[in-house]
Amino acid sequence: MAIPTHRLGDGTTLPAIGFGTYPLTGEDGVAAIRSAIEVGYRLIDSAVNYGNEREVGEAIRQSGVPRQEIQVASKIPGRHHAYDEAIRSTHESLERLGLEYLDLHLVHWPNPSVDRYTEAWRALVDLREQGLVRSIGVSNFTAQHLHRIIDASGVTPSVNQVELHPYFPQTQMRAVHEELGIRTESWSPLGKRQAPFTEPPVATAAERHGVTPGQVILRWQVQLGSIPIPKSATPERQRQNLDVFGFELDDDEVAAITALGRADGRLFGGDPDTHEEM
Ligand SMILES: NC(=O)c1ccc[n+]([C@@H]2O[C@H](COP(=O)([O-])OP(=O)(O)OC[C@H]3O[C@@H](n4cnc5c(N)ncnc54)[C@H](OP(=O)(O)O)[C@@H]3O)[C@@H](O)[C@H]2O)c1
Repeated sequence: MAIPTHRLGDGTTLPAIGFGTYPLTGEDGVAAIRSAIEVGYRLIDSAVNYGNEREVGEAIRQSGVPRQEIQVASKIPGRHHAYDEAIRSTHESLERLGLEYLDLHLVHWPNPSVDRYTEAWRALVDLREQGLVRSIGVSNFTAQHLHRIIDASGVTPSVNQVELHPYFPQTQMRAVHEELGIRTESWSPLGKRQAPFTEPPVATAAERHGVTPGQVILRWQVQLGSIPIPKSATPERQRQNLDVFGFELDDDEVAAITALGRADGRLFGGDPDTHEEM
C-alpha cells in the first residue's frame, strides 16, 4: 500500500511514517536498513551521532531503489553548532553517506548551555539555499527555542522531531507546531523499552481491529498527524510497523491512548543531555 505523505511548510513532502536507524551499525546495520528500504520505507532517519551514515548510504546503494525515491535525514550534533562547524559537519555527513544532498537535516538538540543553536540554524538556512539540503528542521526544541530561531532568521523549521509516544503524547508541543506550521516527527514512537503494548486502550484496540499493539500505537501516531520513525532490526517487525494504513482508530480510541500520557512518561528524565544519543 502506498504511504500517504504530508506537505511541509517549505512545499516539499515527507512520508507519513519513516524508519529510525539508531543504533544500527556495521554489516548487520546495513542489512537491517537495506531490508527496511526493501519492505517499503522511504524516509530514513540518521544522525552524525548514530555513527551509521556510511551504513545508510551503503544500504541505499545495495537496495537498488533510485536515490531520488528515498528521503534521507541526518542531524547536526550539539558539538557542531558554531556556523562554520555546522557547515563542515554537513559536508562530512554527505561524504559519509556518499550522497549529493540530504532531504532533511535537523539540529539534533538545542544544547542550551552552549547556546549557539541559532548559528547552527543559520547554517542550515544557507545549506538549503546552496541546494545541499532540501528541507531543514530541528529536534528536541521547546517553544522558546523555536521562537528564537524563527525570530533570528525569519525561517520556520519544517519539522521538529521530539520524543512522542503514548506515555508522553506532547499535547502542548503539537499545538505549538500546529500554530507555527511545523510538522511533528516522533522519536521513540513505540515507547522503546517501555512500550505500552499491554495497556488496555492499546490491547483492546489491537483486538478490535485485528492488528498488533505496535500497529495500534503507530496508527495513533499517524492519526495525530505526527510522523513516527520506528526502529526495528527485524524484517517482520519492519513490515508490520509500516502496515498501518488499512485500518482506522475512532476518536475515542485515539483519546484513550493519548490519556495514557503521564507526568513521568519521558524516557530520559526530561533532560536531553542525559540521552545516550547526544
Ligand atoms: N532526535 C532524537 O533525539 C532521537 C532520540 C531517540 C531516537 N531517535 C530516532 O527515533 C528512532 C526510533 O526511536 P527508538 O529506536 O528509540 O524507539 P522505538 O522505535 O519506539 O522502539 C524501538 C524498539 O522497539 C522494538 N520494536 C520495534 N518494532 C516492534 C514491534 N512491532 N513489536 C515489538 N517491538 C518492536 C525494537 O526492537 P527490534 O529492533 O528487535 O525489533 C527496538 O528495541 C531511532 O532509531 C532514531 O532514529 C531520535
